[in-house]
Parts: sequence; C-alpha cells; structure tokens
Amino acid sequence: MAILVTGGLGYVGCHAVKQLVDRGEQVYTLDNLIYGHKQAACGSTVIVGDIGDQTLLRQVFSAHKIDAVMHFAAFADVGESVADPEKYYLNNVSKSLAMLQVMLEFDVKMMIFSSSAATFGEPEIVPIPEDHPKNPTNPYGRSKLMLEHILKEYEQAYGLRSISLRYFNASGADPSGLIGEDHTPEHHLIPLIIDVALGKREKISVFGSDWPTPDGTCVRDYVHVGDLAQAHLLGLEALRNGKETTAYNLGNGNGYSVMEVVKMVEKVTGKPINAVMADRRPGDPAVLVASAAKIASELGWKPNHPDLETIVQTAWDWHRTHPNGY
Ligand code: UFG
Repeated sequence: MAILVTGGLGYVGCHAVKQLVDRGEQVYTLDNLIYGHKQAACGSTVIVGDIGDQTLLRQVFSAHKIDAVMHFAAFADVGESVADPEKYYLNNVSKSLAMLQVMLEFDVKMMIFSSSAATFGEPEIVPIPEDHPKNPTNPYGRSKLMLEHILKEYEQAYGLRSISLRYFNASGADPSGLIGEDHTPEHHLIPLIIDVALGKREKISVFGSDWPTPDGTCVRDYVHVGDLAQAHLLGLEALRNGKETTAYNLGNGNGYSVMEVVKMVEKVTGKPINAVMADRRPGDPAVLVASAAKIASELGWKPNHPDLETIVQTAWDWHRTHPNGY
C-alpha cells in the first residue's frame, strides 16, 4: 500500500515524507508548488496539482493503491487569514472536503491531519491538554478546528478514521541538512533571528515586552520538525492497527520566551543579534505550551530533539548552508 502526502513539499510535510521514504513506504507527494519546493521531494513521487482538483485525485487513487492520506496542504499564515479569511476557508476547508469526497469514493479511509495549537486560542490553563476549550482567535485556527469537527463526523457517518495532530511551534531542520525551513515571506521567529545572524536582516523586532511572562516577552513551545514528522508515522501505524479518530497535541511541554530564543541563537551562531522591542502583535497569546502526555502514553511518542539548543542548531545548520533557501 502507498501513502498520499498532500503539501508534502512544504516545511513539515517534507520532513514526514523523508521519514516515510526512509522507512520504505511508497510515497506520492501531491503539492501545488505555491509554497512547496520541488527540491524537498526526498525520493517520493511528486504529483504537481491541487487538493481541490477532483479529476486529478480520481486519477491518482485509480492508478495507485493508497491506503492513507497525510494531509499537510494548507495556508498557514495567521495574519493573512485575518485579512483574507475567504482564502483560508476555501483552501483549508472547502478543498479538503473535495478531497475527502474522492477519498470516500475510493474507499480510502485513513487520514493524518495537520492541525494546530491555533485551534485553542487564548489558553485558560498551561500546559494545554487536548480537551482544553477551543476558541480560535483567527480564521486560520478556525479552519483547522472546522476540519477536526468534520473528521469526527466523517468517522461516525462513513467510517473514515483520522488522527489530528496539533502542532505547537514547528522549528529546526532534518539533521541530514537536505531539507529545512524555507518560507516566502518568512514570519516565524527562529528563521527570522537566524537571518539577522546571517546579515540578511538588520534586526529582529520583539513583539511586546510587557506580557505577563518572566521577561515580558511571549512564551512558546518550540518542537523539532523531525519529532513532528515522527508523530505522523506513529499515527499512521496506529490507524493501520485500527485506532479510532482522535487528536493529539505535539509540543515538548517547555516554554521559551522570545528573548530566550534570541539568546540561544546568539549562543549557537556566535553572532550578536540586534533585538529591538516593538509593539505587541495582535492576536498573540502570551503563553502557548503543550501537554503532549496523551500521544506519549497512547502512541509512545518521545521527541528526539526536545532541547532548544539542538532545535536552533539544526535550523542554523540548514540556513547557513542554504542562505537563500532551496
Ligand atoms: N515574534 C516576534 N518577532 C517576530 C516574529 C515573531 O517577536 O518577528 C514572536 C511572536 O510574537 C511569538 C513568537 O515570536 O510570540 C513566535 O512567533 P511565530 O510567528 O514564529 O509563531 P506563532 O507562535 O505566532 O505561530 C505558530 C505557528 C502558527 C500557529 C501558531 C499557533 O506558526 O501556524 O503557532 O498558535 F497558528
């Protein structure tokens, strides 16, 4: 049997593809190349196309014996989702529904879904458990939560079983140096700070220094992208063994402030970082830290790179060898 990976040429997707290929799975990577990179195929068979293209999907499912879909393809820029919600609901929800329809036609009834900590919104308790109330503060988070609800109903109605994985702050790069983070435009903290270390940016703006945190800057749970990928493989195995639909949080349970990340990049790169205090970014929660106890106990997930220094080191290794991305 083979796996279809949507968005498999994107940042998290390609790390999962690499691990699947390394494990000997037959992998078809469907990517529309809006944000994906052909160089990130990692030995999978690339199909250039869109998850909303039902004709293409029917061809793919007819031609190959696919038993499961790993669904990464989505737009994921929180700020943009506020400015242009239509783009997010059309792509992340509507096109996902179109794909689910074809999956059911071909009796493909297993899915690993890329969800997000953005489904929770402002946390009431930290670390955040899976059953924490969900009040997303932006259309991106709401689009992910909608699909989680849809997937639950699809299990009850059609027997399509799925595992939703809620990523906290995906970061780092595969230690092979072959794949890494390459977003245009880049909004994420670690690559932006590394750009300062590389001399590509003059400064990093720290979004708020008056948050109710120990040093006044926002706290996040940075989780290595390879550990996220590993969770997808465990989820696939669980579904193949009959696991019912569920959702898991993916984080290390350790929070680091923006300034702690800045200091870690200085330590790893040996370069001084010009960090300038700026206004808060609207919609940012002060603290987002995961409890990943559920996936640890149910699937045995154990991050291989839980410490921030290794996460930043692997990100640095990728960026200094690929200063202009792929
Ligand atoms: N930050 C800065 N300056 C920057 C960029 C970021 O201070 O130039 C801060 C942010 O305010 C935040 C932290 O660095 O406190 C991390 O910001 P990122 O943009 O890297 O990540 P987010 O925590 O905002 O977002 C991530 C994912 C989203 C997901 C969200 C879940 O990128 O896809 O977690 O809430 F929705």
